[in-house]
Amino acid sequence: MTTSSHITRLARRGLQTATHATPPPPPPMMSMAALAPKRKPRAEGDIGSVFASLSGEEAAVLPPRFRDLKRQIINDADRAALTASWGRLTARLAQAADEIETAKQDAVPTVAYDDLINADSGTIARIKRAGALVLTGVVPRPEAEGWLRQVEEYVAANPQVKGFPADDKQVFEVYWSKPQLAARAHPRSVAAQRALLSLFASSPASSVSLASPLMYADRLRVRHPGDSRFALGPHMDGGSIERWEDPTYRSVYAAILQGQWEAFDAFEIEARSAANQNLYDGAGACGIFRAFQGWTSLSDTGPGEGTLRVYPLIKEETAYTLLRPLFRELKSKAEVGHEAYLAPDNWVLDTETTDFPGAPPARSQEFNDDTHPHLQLSRSMVSIPRVRPGDQAWWHADTIHAVEAAHRGTGPSAVMYIPTVPLTRVNAAYVRDQLESLRDAVPPPDFPGGTGEQGFVGTGTVGDVVGHTARQAMGIEPFELSPDMPAGERAAREDANKIFGFA
Ligand SMILES: [Fe+2]
Repeated sequence: MTTSSHITRLARRGLQTATHATPPPPPPMMSMAALAPKRKPRAEGDIGSVFASLSGEEAAVLPPRFRDLKRQIINDADRAALTASWGRLTARLAQAADEIETAKQDAVPTVAYDDLINADSGTIARIKRAGALVLTGVVPRPEAEGWLRQVEEYVAANPQVKGFPADDKQVFEVYWSKPQLAARAHPRSVAAQRALLSLFASSPASSVSLASPLMYADRLRVRHPGDSRFALGPHMDGGSIERWEDPTYRSVYAAILQGQWEAFDAFEIEARSAANQNLYDGAGACGIFRAFQGWTSLSDTGPGEGTLRVYPLIKEETAYTLLRPLFRELKSKAEVGHEAYLAPDNWVLDTETTDFPGAPPARSQEFNDDTHPHLQLSRSMVSIPRVRPGDQAWWHADTIHAVEAAHRGTGPSAVMYIPTVPLTRVNAAYVRDQLESLRDAVPPPDFPGGTGEQGFVGTGTVGDVVGHTARQAMGIEPFELSPDMPAGERAAREDANKIFGFA
């Protein structure tokens, strides 16, 4: 879902892209225009409309074409390989639950800003294994604390602001406050985003730029001590049923769906960035591809204080998510007990039902102990380590994450959601439309619509997006082009400049 999401590395990235021998031919102008049909404005609302579990709706039975989809996926694979893979995976998940329960917060790497910018192979391996991290010391603490004060002043000056829950607002429908614009443009945050993008690989033919992250406007959260209503259960961003239904999205997971989950690489970016994550234009759908979702902390918040929880093994949880709908239980837990229920011989390939557990169209992919029992979420969802103002939390596009059910701390648990967005044509088209939302002071295209911050006191404007890099990332100024630029980088920038209307 959309809420919920950061240069010496740049030089290293430049070396990688320098090996791009042949850039893809620039698409004709027609296809640029076709990228952005007029986006449909979304209904007014708040974050409660994004999740089936928050909206209180019952799980619906999916139509028969979803059974056909499962049959197609299963028939495209080797059934014996799929079944064997499921057995290995579920055994690994049982072991993983023990490991995570023992490690607790240590299962999520805490990395200092300088150690990400100049990351050694050990740090990279730890981040890639977990798929999540706490990045410390990105923004100087006094600056981040200042942003929280400004946010509180902005909300106080505009009591008509929408938020969730409506009678005690904590997740605000605020996108264009000045501190948000400043936080998105902060040079160290942008450098962190470049470093995170450099963890991904893209092929020489790809015009994805990992060196020029774009800016994505999202909400902010100021959770009050004692709150237990903003209890987002375990979920995955980036669509739900789309992971199977969209052929490009499905291709990201080819290794898993062919029975080789151990060979899955969560850090290949090309197919991911071209996938359609939004087939049903749901309230929670995201119109861009975020390599990492993240937030910047404005408060000192530890486990138990309303913070983020993650499943900290990206390969394992992604493999299980993708394989889960392909298998069904033979006997229920009530019939055979917990251990026999989870055992491989209680699960068979499912070509009979239309079930995609926790993946209703137009909602986020959600997880619980009934829909995804082998994850043992009550043991394996772990709260991230303590964050202080100016630290950031980051989680991979496929990371299962949640927000702690209760905030038992004494201060606000406050974050600005700011993701890592590579430069692609689809993302650039979103950013172009998002800029219109800033100009009109309305919610960005991905979010519940309405008049937003029109008429608010102190709302930011285009002039408050400060700095050349930030203005490029918002589509306000063109990207520079140079003949010595690596070919893939140059193609991505040329495409973006056309989409932004500069060429
Ligand atoms: Fe999320």
